[in-house]
This record gives sequence, structure tokens and C-alpha cells, in this order.
Amino acid sequence: MAGVLHFILLLFLHCGSFILISAGPEDGTTTVDSDAAFTTTESLFSAGRTNASEVPTTGFTASYSKLTTKPPTTTTTTERLTGDTGKTAERAVSGKDAEEEKEQEGPLELERRSTRSIKVAKKPKTIQKKPKLITKKPKVVTKAKPQVKKSASPPVATEKVPQCPPLGLESLKVKDNQLRASSFKRKGLGPHRGRLNIQSGIEDGDIYDGAWCAQYRDKKQWLEVDARQLTRFTGVILQGRNSIWSWDVVHTYKVQFSNDSLVWKPCMNGTEEAVFEGNQDAETPVLALFNTSAVARYIRINPQTWYQNGTDGDICLRAEVLGCTLPDPNNIYAWQTQPAESRDKLDFRHHNYKEMKKLMKSVNEACPDITRIYSIGKSYTGLKLYVMEISDNPGKHELGEPEFRYVAGMHGNEVLGRELLLNLMQYICQEYKRGDQRIVHLVKETRIHLLPSMNPDGYEMAFKKGSELSGWALGRYSYEGIDMNHNFADLNSVMWTAIELETDRSKLINHYFPIPEQYTSEEAFVASETRAVINWMQDIPFVLSANLHGGELVVTYPYDMTRDWAPREHTPTSDESFFRWLSTAYASTNQVMSNPDRRPCHNKDFLRYNNIINGADWHNVPGSMNDFSYLHTNCFEVTVELSCDKFPHASELPMEWENNRESLLIYMEQVHRGIKGVVRDKDTEAGIADAIIKVDDIDHHIRSVADGDYWRLLNPGEYRVTASAEGYYPSSRTCQVMYDHYPTICDFRLTKMPKQRLKEILAKGGKIPKDLQLRLRQLRLRKLRVTTKAMNQRRAAAAAKRAKRV
Ligand SMILES: *[C@@H]1O[C@H](CO)[C@@H](O)[C@H](O)[C@H]1NC(C)=O
Ligand SMILES: *[C@@H]1O[C@H](CO)[C@@H](O)[C@H](O)[C@H]1NC(C)=O
Ligand SMILES: *[C@@H]1O[C@H](CO)[C@@H](O)[C@H](O)[C@H]1NC(C)=O
Ligand SMILES: *[C@@H]1O[C@H](CO)[C@@H](O)[C@H](O)[C@H]1NC(C)=O
Ligand SMILES: *[C@@H]1O[C@H](CO)[C@@H](O)[C@H](O)[C@H]1NC(C)=O
Ligand SMILES: [Zn+2]
Repeated sequence: MAGVLHFILLLFLHCGSFILISAGPEDGTTTVDSDAAFTTTESLFSAGRTNASEVPTTGFTASYSKLTTKPPTTTTTTERLTGDTGKTAERAVSGKDAEEEKEQEGPLELERRSTRSIKVAKKPKTIQKKPKLITKKPKVVTKAKPQVKKSASPPVATEKVPQCPPLGLESLKVKDNQLRASSFKRKGLGPHRGRLNIQSGIEDGDIYDGAWCAQYRDKKQWLEVDARQLTRFTGVILQGRNSIWSWDVVHTYKVQFSNDSLVWKPCMNGTEEAVFEGNQDAETPVLALFNTSAVARYIRINPQTWYQNGTDGDICLRAEVLGCTLPDPNNIYAWQTQPAESRDKLDFRHHNYKEMKKLMKSVNEACPDITRIYSIGKSYTGLKLYVMEISDNPGKHELGEPEFRYVAGMHGNEVLGRELLLNLMQYICQEYKRGDQRIVHLVKETRIHLLPSMNPDGYEMAFKKGSELSGWALGRYSYEGIDMNHNFADLNSVMWTAIELETDRSKLINHYFPIPEQYTSEEAFVASETRAVINWMQDIPFVLSANLHGGELVVTYPYDMTRDWAPREHTPTSDESFFRWLSTAYASTNQVMSNPDRRPCHNKDFLRYNNIINGADWHNVPGSMNDFSYLHTNCFEVTVELSCDKFPHASELPMEWENNRESLLIYMEQVHRGIKGVVRDKDTEAGIADAIIKVDDIDHHIRSVADGDYWRLLNPGEYRVTASAEGYYPSSRTCQVMYDHYPTICDFRLTKMPKQRLKEILAKGGKIPKDLQLRLRQLRLRKLRVTTKAMNQRRAAAAAKRAKRV
């Protein structure tokens, strides 16, 4: 989710991450301000965590401790580049590392692609050198950061009281009618708003405010949760009020239990009533674990002290309750409880970096014929951005076969997309082997690329706190604090400025906008992750993509940026109708979004929009990946907001897979809509690269790729299509798009203009017929790569210096 509302959280997080960065090699926990409230709960956790190594782990703990006990030099991998072939890097690495380094470094793209082949061939070189210099860096960082390892199972408080999962106030598994309160100030502050991480609108006072607030200010106020069945309650997580204008937090509270909501038993601490620590700030969730768990159906949170100088001195809170439901033969709600399982046998849990890598490797081993793992670059701290490629011919672009990508985790704390992509690769592998015709067809006809984690640094931060305690913003940004969805080159402004200044409409370009000069400098605040993705977008001729986020339930399509800086305004592309179709394909097949009875996640009711909206009509996002993708490449991309809860508890993952499986597949299949074909030279039959495909009445062109193949996504209808290329006569034809799941083939054969004629044109106009735009595009990309390299070298040198000092 990207939003105006993040503004305040953003400031908050920035403080947190700044301190983290500047904490240096000392234990980061000692100085992190915003974590102060965690001190008590953290120690409870660490009791469980210290023995986490007893759990079968991924070796993460082991390698961590290795790093902390040995000087960095002993674990540093030394590597050597083999000449300038740029294809392979020899590394003298030991054991596990050697194995880890085996994956291919970059997309083995077509060496012979005409205009882009030069860049492509060069790319591995630059990328190869990067790791060499940066290798030492992550080790230093790892050392400086507090312990990263956490067992995938819920944290264990004490041996006597094992932790239970959240009931689902945040995820909405707990329905509005399961929440009651002693009193509430008004509807927008009702008990149904007392959910962990719920977000208010920009204004206070509407029906979507950011907490439950009691009407009265005394110690008799309570928020009640009806678990609807006997539950062993083990803890409560509390958070203050979310608002830009108001500030209310509960400092301490009591808890009571009941089986009938009439007779209540207090939560005890020995012989005394337990009084739990609540919040000091409005955003940090604070966990309280009960000394002894209680079995009951109802639970009440009963504030005792709160910030008196808060807005109106109100009692306001957001909460989550931890509890394990017990088998109950008399439970009348049994029929209503959703199955928490999935019929697919997939690895449903949260995977940190190491575990993700391991899982990807296992998929690759299970399906070596249709998968390939490669990395498109590295994060700031040196974690690789792994991609799983799935295709019947991995590693190769095939003539006419469209390329598809899913990108997840650009906001590191929006973790569902990551897990869904890991599920998806496992699923495709399994089903392909089973001979599932739909999957076999998809794999044979499409080249699929899955990037589960675009921001692995951010993810590790959120993962460390866990699904309930990471709050709303921790891990959203890159390690440097960059929001990657605002970090792409703003080509919208380039386009709109040109439209304003240029009177001759025929001179306006409408696609393949070059990256602005200033964006490519080393000083430009462009994250290494963003740079890696831009390179990737250039290397592979993607046709369709989706960018998976979390924190809402809606599909948004470009443009994401408003013209003239309006806070929100419907800002359609020339492909509005197809983008609406694409968004609908996902939204209407998603089992949660399409449920007409669902309640809105936070402060906007997207059901009223059928769960799809133009990005800019929601809120202005300059520099988004979707807009960049559409304006700089052939690729159409939408954003999918997958769930109200950015970091669902592991127990909810099977259900989330069920909710999204069909949508993920259907959406990929849309890459086969519209028309496709090959543009060839009439005489030689050779494919023509960079031919422009123009569809009448759509002011956005597409270009053919290296072998002359192209894809033009279109809704059903009849279109007049023109192909043109430098030095050729343009050719037009009518192409009919049907409702089928396969594209209409529209090939073109272009006749070369006589050389003589071409020369005449040259002499007359004195213009350079070379495609200036395209050349500019290449130049800028090259510059971006050079500056990226320089930047990485500088960082690595700094890291090496720091490592020496340690
Ligand atoms: C951790 O394990 C060690 C030995 O395996 C044991 O002595 C210690 O009490 C355990 N600590 C906790 C907090 O469980
Ligand atoms: C609720 O009922 C269960 C089972 O009968 C019992 O174990 C539990 O103590 C009761 N809880 C309360 C708060 O009365
Ligand atoms: C839990 O309760 C016991 C008494 O039953 C008490 O001695 C102990 O201090 C309590 N522990 C905590 C963490 O509150
Ligand atoms: C429980 O009691 C212990 C000992 O009196 C005290 O230190 C602790 O703060 C209490 N915890 C709660 C949650 O009331
Ligand atoms: C609350 O406000 C009063 C008066 O403005 C001030 O004296 C007092 O210190 C404040 N209390 C807190 C906890 O900020
Ligand atoms: Zn997001």
C-alpha cells in the first residue's frame, strides 16, 4: 500500500532506521529509540529465541554466530574474474558459499538481439564486478544489526505458555459483530475500528477513524472480543490511535475473561490482578503475554491509565488478541469457520532470505527442465535479488513467446506477495509434473519470471519483529530509507511537459520515453534495487506484469501519478480499457476481494469500485514502477494490494493462497490477449527489431523486439494496425481480436525503401534518420549502469574500511 497516510509513519520510521544505520558496529538494540517500548516483550521473546537453534534451522543462526565470532576476513570469499568474457566469475569459496554462488548471475539474454544486444552482452560484466567488491559489506552489516534469526513458528514466551496465533482482528478473520465495547465516541471510533494496524483516513471525524475510542473516560471502559468458541487466550497486542491530527494512547490495562459475557474473571498475576503495559507512542505495537493462559470464549481489554493530555483525554486503542481455539462439539459457529487449509501441498510459512533461497533451489531441483534461478542485482546490504524463471526453455527468449513477470516485496513489510510467489513456483512445478493441462500450456506458451523480494533488506527488518509486532511501516523502505515505488524515473512529467510545449502533435512521442539525464547520475537518490529492476526491464522484453503489495484489497492500474500534482485525480493511460480489464481479471477472481459482504480494510470502500481503481484516482504516486514500465518499455503493469494485513500470520498463509491461486493464474494468462506477430523484411524474411506497432485510436505504441516479434495487448474488437520501421515502407492491416484465450496472429512484411530514396530523404531533410530517441535511451541506461557501479564500489570501499576498523 502506498499512501498519503504513510507520511507520519514515514517520519517515524525514518528516525528508527536512521538510528539503526548510525548505530555502527555496537549492538543496535541499545540505541534504537523507537524500539524502546519493546524492551520488556523483547526479553520475553529472546528467552524463546535463544534456544531457537534447537529447532531445525536453515543454518542462518549458525552462519550468523560464525560471523560474529570470527573476524570478517576469515569468512570473506575471494573471487576472481576470468578475463573480460564477463560470463563466468571464478570464486575461491568454501563449502556452502560455493554452492550458493552457483546460480547464474543475470538473465542469459539473447546475445544476438539487435539494438539491445550490445547492452545485454555487456551487462554481466558490470554485474559480476559488483559482488566482488561488495562481498564484505553484508558481513559488516549483519554484525552491526541485532540478531536476525527467528524461528518460523510463533515465538515462545515461556516453556509453560506456548504462543498462540492472532485471532485475526487485524486480518478481519474476526468479524465486526464479534467486537463490542462499553461505549464509543461515535461510529467512526466504534469497536470495529479497534483493530491492530487499522488506518484512518486523512481527516478525523468520518466513519473510518483509526481506533476504538470510549465515550467516557474512566477505568470501567472495555473492548470485548467474542472468539465464538472456547479459546485458550495467551496474550494481547496493543497499539495507540492512528491519526494525523489526534494522539491517544493507553498506558496500562487489565484483561478479563468470560464464557457468557456476564460473569467475568480477571486475568491474574499470582494473587493480584495483572496490569499490563500498553503504549507510549501511537504506532508501535506492544505485546503482553499472560502469566497463565486462560480458557474462555470472551475476552475484554480494560484500560486503566492513558495519556491524559491526549486529544480530548480519550481512551483509544487498537488491538490484536492471541489465542488457540479449542475443539468444541457444542460450537454453533463451527459451520462458519473457514477452512484454514489448502488442498495444495506447499510450504506455507514465512521465508526469510536464506529460507527463500533454499526453497527456490528446491523448486529448481524438482523441476530443472522448466526452471532457472538468476539474480538481477543486489540490495543495499548485498542480498541478491533472485528471480525464478519458469518456461519450457529456461534461459532463452523464444520467438513469439511473451514474457511475464511478477514482482513482490518492493515494500519489504508487505510480505504476502513474496509467499504467494514462492507458493506459485512450487505449485507450477508440481502441477506441471502432474500433467495439469492448464499449467503445461501456460509454461509452454509463456516465459514467466518471478521476483519474490525486490526489497530483501526491508523484509529482514520486518521479519525480525514478526507478523504482529512489525507495525505498519517497519521494513517498507530500502535500507537507505528509499520508498522504491516513488523511486523510478518520473517519465509522466516528461510526457506532460512535452504535450504542453509541443504544438505539432505528430512530433510527440507516446512510448519508450528515455530516462531523464539527471536520474542517471551517481548522486541521484536511486536505490540499487531500483537500478537493478530498471536494468532487468531493459534486458527482457516483458509484455505484462503485476506488482504485488499489501495493506489493502484492490487492484490499481496506471497512471499512478496525477497531472499537475493533484492529490488524487483519475489519470488514465491510452490503454485505460485494457488496464481495467486486467485489473478486473485479478480482482473478480480473488476470493476475498470479490466477496460482496466483505468490510473495507481501512478508510476506503473499494467494493464500490468493484475492487479496481486508477492509481492516481486513489492517491498521487510520482515515480511509480507501473508508470515507468508503461512509459519506458512495452510492459503493462498493475499493482495488486493483496490483503488488509501487510504481514499476515503464518497460519493464514494457506487460506491466502486459496484466495489468490486462481487470480495469479488468470492474470498471467492475460499475456495471451490481443494481437501478436513478427515484423519481417519482405525480401530477406529477417525479423525487424524496433519496428513500431501503432494501433489506430490508441495513442501508445509498442515496439518489436530483437527478432521482430511483438505483442500488443488489446481487448476484443477490430483494429487497424500499422507497422513501421526505419528504412521501410509502413504497412497496415486490420486485426480482429476475439474473446479467446489466445492472441490473434498479425504478422507484417515490410518492403525496404530503395536505398536511393533513403539517401534523398537524408539529403533533403538533413535530419538524422537514426532513431535518436532509441539511442538516447541506450546512452542513459549505460550511464545508469556506470554510476551504479561507481556507487557500489564506493560503498564497498567504505565497508571494507569499516571492517578493518572493527
Ligand atoms: C536453552 O537450552 C539450554 C541447553 O540446551 C538450557 O540449559 C537452557 O535452560 C535453555 N534456555 C531456555 C531459555 O530455554
Ligand atoms: C469456560 O469454560 C471452560 C470449559 O468449561 C472452563 O475450563 C473455563 O475455566 C471457563 N472460563 C471462565 C472464564 O469461566
Ligand atoms: C507469574 O505468576 C507467579 C505466581 O503464580 C509469580 O510468581 C510470577 O512472578 C509471575 N510472573 C510474571 C512474569 O508475571
Ligand atoms: C506480576 O507480578 C510481578 C511480581 O509482583 C510483577 O513484577 C509484574 O510486573 C506483574 N506483571 C503484571 C503483568 O501484572
Ligand atoms: C499535561 O498538561 C499539563 C498542562 O498543560 C502539564 O502541566 C502536564 O505536565 C502535562 N502532562 C503530561 C504527562 O504531559
Ligand atoms: Zn505497498
